[in-house]
Amino acid sequence: MTDELKRAAAEKALELVQDGMLVGLGSGSTTRFFTEGVGRLVSQGMKVRGVPTSRETAELAAQHGIPIVTELVGQIDLAVDGADEVDQALNLIKGRGGALLREKLVAAASKRFVVVIDESKLVKDLGVGVLPVEVVPFLWRSTAERLTALGLSLVVRGGEGTPYITDNGNLILDLSGEGGISDPKEFGAELKKITGVVEHGLFVGMTDTVIVAGADGPKAIGRPPGPR
Ligand code: A5P
Repeated sequence: MTDELKRAAAEKALELVQDGMLVGLGSGSTTRFFTEGVGRLVSQGMKVRGVPTSRETAELAAQHGIPIVTELVGQIDLAVDGADEVDQALNLIKGRGGALLREKLVAAASKRFVVVIDESKLVKDLGVGVLPVEVVPFLWRSTAERLTALGLSLVVRGGEGTPYITDNGNLILDLSGEGGISDPKEFGAELKKITGVVEHGLFVGMTDTVIVAGADGPKAIGRPPGPR
């Protein structure tokens, strides 16, 4: 069932793809359906190029004949990506698949950022599950100590013996705390100030549209008014 919902959300997002577009291709099991759909459009003759958010997505895009762009001047027309948690203000937690840095770079470079999810990802407050933070491997324990000094618990993804390494050669620390994240913007800003932190998985004020698939079919939720 979940796969059907993921596919339904991705197919709805495909309706936004137009000839000539440069499209950001997200990572994860939901956007996989989107990338495959873009491949279908390309095979039907549509001229679309993709900016992949991970090596895995780059491989998938190549398998589906989508021309890939990794150097950019100007903006991406449309980026479509999944999320781990989405709150009522359309703020997100991303990165449980490990691709958060490139995902945020692509979202930030896009004119329109569309998130595709099944309804299980909707939350009242972010922080139901872990918040992934990408850190440089050099002196990572010192970085981890600065994070735990904020009152957070953390684990190294993959474990200290066999840590997960991101596409950028970094580590992921999965943070958890007591209760939800009451002010994601403020909390994200705090994390960014910590030396050794490359990026975190809070995407605040970046989402233009969320396409959420439930039993009644996919529904688009627009961004609340205010600056992006
Ligand atoms: C990848 O790092 C993540 O941000 C994914 O976009 C997110 O985890 C959603 O993945 P699924 O669509 O597989 O749930």
